[in-house]
Amino acid sequence: DMLLCKNKDYAGKKVLVTAGPTVEDIDPVRFISNHSSGKMGYSIARAARNRGAEVILITGPTDIMPPVGVKVIRVKTAQEMYDEVMKYFPNVDIAIKAAAVADYRVENVSNTKIKKSEDSFEIKLIKNKDILLEMGKIKTNQILVGFAAETNDLIQNAKLKLANKNLDMIIANDITQENSGFNYDTNTVKIIKKDGQLVQLPNMLKQELADIILNYILEIKLKR
Ligand code: CTP
Ligand code: CA
Repeated sequence: DMLLCKNKDYAGKKVLVTAGPTVEDIDPVRFISNHSSGKMGYSIARAARNRGAEVILITGPTDIMPPVGVKVIRVKTAQEMYDEVMKYFPNVDIAIKAAAVADYRVENVSNTKIKKSEDSFEIKLIKNKDILLEMGKIKTNQILVGFAAETNDLIQNAKLKLANKNLDMIIANDITQENSGFNYDTNTVKIIKKDGQLVQLPNMLKQELADIILNYILEIKLKR
């Protein structure tokens, strides 16, 4: 078995991973979501499991099979993801927030199908809680890792998120790069650590990248 050959350097560690999009209803027919496939988060969950971690995967709706041996918690909305994350976060060693959380939800979700009428139509959105920001506020000894999906000013935006959300590390993802970001099996990212270290990685399979991300997290953990 391939699993048995693997280095079990995550044995004894509890890892929380969030993955996929969140879905915010407009009415019983329509919703607001995003292009997240869940591949990056699921790859991290699989890699951590392979290395011996106890993995909790909190996931929005995706089409992919979760790795066997991982505790899977399915959510739909950002609010549901927030509730589940807050339940588990205090008891993990490492949390990796790969999910693409909807920044806004519909203020008044209609119980009945909205009928078309006027030529223009407005939906009022209100801000969801920033789950990662809240995790950063309450973290004690956990290593907290976020993602930043950007189309411009990648490093600058990612560094701001790293600082504002009290993260130990951020994976800066330029989604305009070829074969990178939403839905691809591959990704091109830069890893930025709290101590300022910046690692520029080539385009690679998300499954390979997952192991590299876990290597850098372990380095932080060992230095503590
Ligand atoms: N995130 C979160 N809760 C939210 C929004 C984002 O936990 N309501 C997390 C994501 O899981 C990701 C990180 O914050 O790990 C960055 O998400 P991103 O959308 O790139 O940044 P935002 O802080 O939402 O800022 P913006 O979308 O304006 O760039
Ligand atoms: Ca966002």
